[in-house]
Amino acid sequence: MKNVTLINNTIEFVKHELKNAESGHDWFHIERVYKNAMLIAKTEKVDILIVKLAALLHDIADSKFNNGDENIGPNKAKAYLHKQELDEKSVLHIISIIANMSYSKNIDKKAAFNSLELQVVQDADRLDAIGAIGITRAFNYGGYKNRTIYNPAIKPNLHQTKEEYKKSNAPTINHFYEKLLILKDKMNTKTARKIALDRHLFMEQFLEQFYNEWNGKK
Ligand code: ADP
Ligand code: NI
Repeated sequence: MKNVTLINNTIEFVKHELKNAESGHDWFHIERVYKNAMLIAKTEKVDILIVKLAALLHDIADSKFNNGDENIGPNKAKAYLHKQELDEKSVLHIISIIANMSYSKNIDKKAAFNSLELQVVQDADRLDAIGAIGITRAFNYGGYKNRTIYNPAIKPNLHQTKEEYKKSNAPTINHFYEKLLILKDKMNTKTARKIALDRHLFMEQFLEQFYNEWNGKK
């Protein structure tokens, strides 16, 4: 099978899997991550097919939407890839990326697997969590979970464990301090660090305006 055919088949598979997904984790999230990954990969020596397939398959069954089960996503990806003409080493690499790249997985310990291809896809995914898109996704997720937008009495919890992070019910503004504003210093590649800085400044500007309006100042 030609690589283009494999990519196109994978796009169709992912679109189908995500047809009812929350809008912050839907096909358009995957498409943005894919584009970010292609941009970052230009300046990195990576196996581009691995990066493409991992970016496309990285969120087909997020544990957040599957009762916390962290194996569903990697298992679905594995079953799909085994039906394609792809060597076993590549299949293993792609599912290792998917199983180890998430933010929560890396909170209290280093993930069990790492590679340059993982780092590129991880940066691409993290870029989509910040900036204007990141702000929108956070509030959409908060709304989906029926969370409060902001409550000045509930302070952010900066030193969360993975378990605390996952079961947090805190207002969405807290998520900026608990994750989104931390991401710019967690980028793996130079290209992503540069893009992240702009997006970070935009979030800081947004928060300043938000508090001003909240307090009736502007
Ligand atoms: P990963 O999927 O990499 O483990 P997360 O589960 O932390 O990362 O979140 C993915 C995205 O979902 C975040 O970037 C954000 O947009 C949204 N999200 C997750 N948790 C929250 C939260 N508590 N409040 C608002 N948005 C959230
Ligand atoms: Ni993602």
